[in-house]
Amino acid sequence: MTAIGSAPDGTTPLDPDEIEGLRYRNIVTRGELDRLEQANLESGLAWLARRRRTDVLAERFLRELHRRLFGEVWKWAGRLRLTAKNIGIDPADIPVQLRMLLDDARYWAANGTYVPLEAAARFHHRLVQIHPFPNGNGRHGRIAADVYLRSCFDHAPIDWGAGQDLKNDSGRRNQYIAALRAADAGDHSPLLSFVGA
Ligand SMILES: Nc1ncnc2c1ncn2[C@@H]1O[C@H](COP(=O)(O)OP(=O)(O)OP(=O)(O)O)[C@@H](O)[C@H]1O
Ligand SMILES: [Mg+2]
Repeated sequence: MTAIGSAPDGTTPLDPDEIEGLRYRNIVTRGELDRLEQANLESGLAWLARRRRTDVLAERFLRELHRRLFGEVWKWAGRLRLTAKNIGIDPADIPVQLRMLLDDARYWAANGTYVPLEAAARFHHRLVQIHPFPNGNGRHGRIAADVYLRSCFDHAPIDWGAGQDLKNDSGRRNQYIAALRAADAGDHSPLLSFVGA
């Protein structure tokens, strides 16, 4: 398969061996891939809705969630990233950084360190900054933040799109990426206002 069209700002390009992991051989356009991924995502969300209550602050759960969201499209879904990307930490550091994030997120929930939306925003930012998977980190991280809100705070999900499609280039996506970049630099306030905290 050849390159799959151009991607919006703030996405991670796939390596040739990651593209090898595509379960469909005849995809040519990004639109086709987007539709397959969207269908898979919806079946993953259905799994999420009917699953038994488990500890969501665990690497195992985050990997299982990724596999459920993307495993019908990508063979490597649910496996931690092994290659370096333009976004994300050194792949060798992913397991330890994930563990630290999950411990922190558990502490924030147990101690009321932040209001729920701020805890979820910080959790989301660190998760996408770690960038545990070769692709799908944004979508996985937004769903994971909503699961954290529900299971640890009994709180409603974040209104990520606010009526716009975050996946495509839009004012809302530009705002989202800019807010993550500010958080990279230590300023969480744009992300907090983005999630309505
Ligand atoms: N500077 C940054 N700091 C932290 N995270 C970032 C930054 N830039 C982008 N990201 C995150 O990386 C995601 C893109 O990574 P990836 O392509 O793996 O996810 P995706 O689910 O395929 O993308 P998306 O759903 O956003 O189209 C963005 O959605 C965002 O969450
Ligand atoms: Mg992507």
